[in-house]
Amino acid sequence: MRRLCHALATLLAAWFAVFGGIHAVTLEVKEGNATCIKADLSASFSITYNNNSGSSRTVSFSLPDSTTVDAESSSCGSDGGSPWLVAVFGSGHAFGLSFSRNGSLYSVANLTLQYNLSDTSVFPDANSSDVVTVVSTSVGIWAAINTTYHCVSPTSVGVGGATVTFTDMRMEAYMPGNDLSPTESVCLADQTSTTPPPTTASTTSGAPTAAPTPPGTPERGTYFVNNSNGTVCLLAHMGLQLNVSYFSRSQNKTVQELVNLTPTRTNASGSCEASRATLVLTQEQTTNLNFTFTLNSTTNRYHLSAISLLASWSDMAANLSASNSSLNYMRSTLGRSYMCNAEQTLAVRPDFSLNTFRLQVQPFGVTTDQFATAEECQMDQDQMLIPIIVGAALAGLVLIVLIAYLIGRKRSHAGYQTI
Ligand SMILES: *[C@@H]1O[C@H](CO)[C@@H](O)[C@H](O)[C@H]1NC(C)=O
Ligand SMILES: *[C@@H]1O[C@H](CO)[C@@H](O)[C@H](O)[C@H]1NC(C)=O
Ligand SMILES: *[C@@H]1O[C@H](CO)[C@@H](O)[C@H](O)[C@H]1NC(C)=O
Ligand SMILES: *[C@@H]1O[C@H](CO)[C@@H](O)[C@H](O)[C@H]1NC(C)=O
Ligand SMILES: *[C@@H]1O[C@H](CO)[C@@H](O)[C@H](O)[C@H]1NC(C)=O
Ligand SMILES: *[C@@H]1O[C@H](CO)[C@@H](O)[C@H](O)[C@H]1NC(C)=O
Ligand SMILES: *[C@@H]1O[C@H](CO)[C@@H](O)[C@H](O)[C@H]1NC(C)=O
Ligand SMILES: *[C@@H]1O[C@H](CO)[C@@H](O)[C@H](O)[C@H]1NC(C)=O
Ligand SMILES: *[C@@H]1O[C@H](CO)[C@@H](O)[C@H](O)[C@H]1NC(C)=O
Ligand SMILES: *[C@@H]1O[C@H](CO)[C@@H](O)[C@H](O)[C@H]1NC(C)=O
Ligand SMILES: *[C@@H]1O[C@H](CO)[C@@H](O)[C@H](O)[C@H]1NC(C)=O
Ligand SMILES: *[C@@H]1O[C@H](CO)[C@@H](O)[C@H](O)[C@H]1NC(C)=O
Repeated sequence: MRRLCHALATLLAAWFAVFGGIHAVTLEVKEGNATCIKADLSASFSITYNNNSGSSRTVSFSLPDSTTVDAESSSCGSDGGSPWLVAVFGSGHAFGLSFSRNGSLYSVANLTLQYNLSDTSVFPDANSSDVVTVVSTSVGIWAAINTTYHCVSPTSVGVGGATVTFTDMRMEAYMPGNDLSPTESVCLADQTSTTPPPTTASTTSGAPTAAPTPPGTPERGTYFVNNSNGTVCLLAHMGLQLNVSYFSRSQNKTVQELVNLTPTRTNASGSCEASRATLVLTQEQTTNLNFTFTLNSTTNRYHLSAISLLASWSDMAANLSASNSSLNYMRSTLGRSYMCNAEQTLAVRPDFSLNTFRLQVQPFGVTTDQFATAEECQMDQDQMLIPIIVGAALAGLVLIVLIAYLIGRKRSHAGYQTI
């Protein structure tokens, strides 16, 4: 059955390149005949907003194919300003990339995200109808002048209450010609990645190629999030298993599937703020898992407050986007890590839960690259009781046997003496 599914998945891959998966869009900023910025990229967004009942909700979606460049706002910078790429999509949503150059390097100086909370198809029940604009100046995208920035690995940028994740990005600003330079500056993440980047063209690489890893206990991965200054600010060590139900194209019915995250094929990114830390795990552009930890600065306690999953697997009839931002898992204290060796099930939505194995995380107060003292989950504490109880029972048994032996010895001694 699995083999059949795999064959079908492969057949459907080409179809998916067009209709499914996370799409690649091509964006170009021109002045007269000359192109000054060109980008081929896929992007996904994870945005937290308040709904009518006052709870915060997180939605995830990917950049649609219909995205276009806003020629009015975009600029090549010939007027003395910075080159600016502004892409618009949907109902009043946009993102902008502003570039700057310094010597032989150019970089993204800032990322602007604009989203329209009145768009109920994206933000159901939002308590506001504002158009929100947020800016981040630590984007971490740079390349040598006259080269194309190339990054297959996901790059996540925390911007306000949102996270923008770019994948499979090929981009150049200050272009010497009208097409992307053949020389590339490969991003750090791709250089250190153990998986070779896909060799397919950017238009087809959104298509999933590998069948989901068959279940079993997932391998334990080590994931970091670094500050803009390069110091580690979030540490996680865990095995993860997704339990999702979705409508299977090949079986023409809803199926329940367990999928393990494979650490060597998973990239970690995220952001750390004073009272909010996010960890984004991306497996081969088809699975995007987002954890948000929240710190209550009054009580100095933190917890896992939101999980969101974006999955576009080959057999899915529709992409799965499941999130819940009113969770209260992994409660621990600032300055401590949270640990749970036992298998833990985190229910997120009726169609999505997450199983964790041998987990240790520390989203706040990381001072060295090491975990601080751990607070263990109740299940581990209960499991520690078992050996204590067994040990106590054994000790009791040994004592009884010993007493019985001593009494027996005394008796038989006494017996010999009377003879
Ligand atoms: C654009 O290119 C055409 C032909 O290559 C040329 O005739 C025209 O003057 C150019 N326009 C500008 C604004 O450079
Ligand atoms: C607001 O969000 C919460 C949590 O996601 C949900 O339980 C509640 O039903 C939502 N309320 C409205 C009016 O949508
Ligand atoms: C939306 O809800 C948040 C949190 O409850 C509140 O702070 C904010 O004022 C509300 N906004 C509007 C426009 O009602
Ligand atoms: C925001 O969305 C609403 C509803 O879709 C739309 O009427 C409005 O024009 C949008 N605002 C902008 C600035 O595009
Ligand atoms: C340009 O780079 C040099 C050396 O890396 C640095 O000292 C300088 O501050 C940079 N200038 C700007 C405007 O970023
Ligand atoms: C973004 O960066 C550009 C170039 O450095 C700068 O001109 C612009 O003011 C910045 N915008 C914001 C909102 O910081
Ligand atoms: C980039 O290419 C242009 C045109 O080919 C050339 O004039 C310029 O000197 C190059 N710049 C660098 C930093 O190599
Ligand atoms: C984060 O920091 C750790 C330890 O300093 C390092 O091993 C890792 O490569 C860094 N990750 C990134 C994405 O820079
Ligand atoms: C790195 O930045 C964080 C906050 O952004 C700060 O707390 C920390 O001291 C910085 N570390 C270094 C070595 O600059
Ligand atoms: C997966 O989820 C389904 C539905 O919630 C549940 O019945 C099943 O036991 C779960 N399986 C595992 C291994 O967690
Ligand atoms: C899928 O199932 C439905 C109802 O069970 C049926 O009407 C439909 O023809 C099936 N489609 C395919 C492609 O088998
Ligand atoms: C922090 O915890 C206190 C006590 O539980 C609670 O009253 C307060 O609302 C919490 N603050 C936030 C920002 O959640």
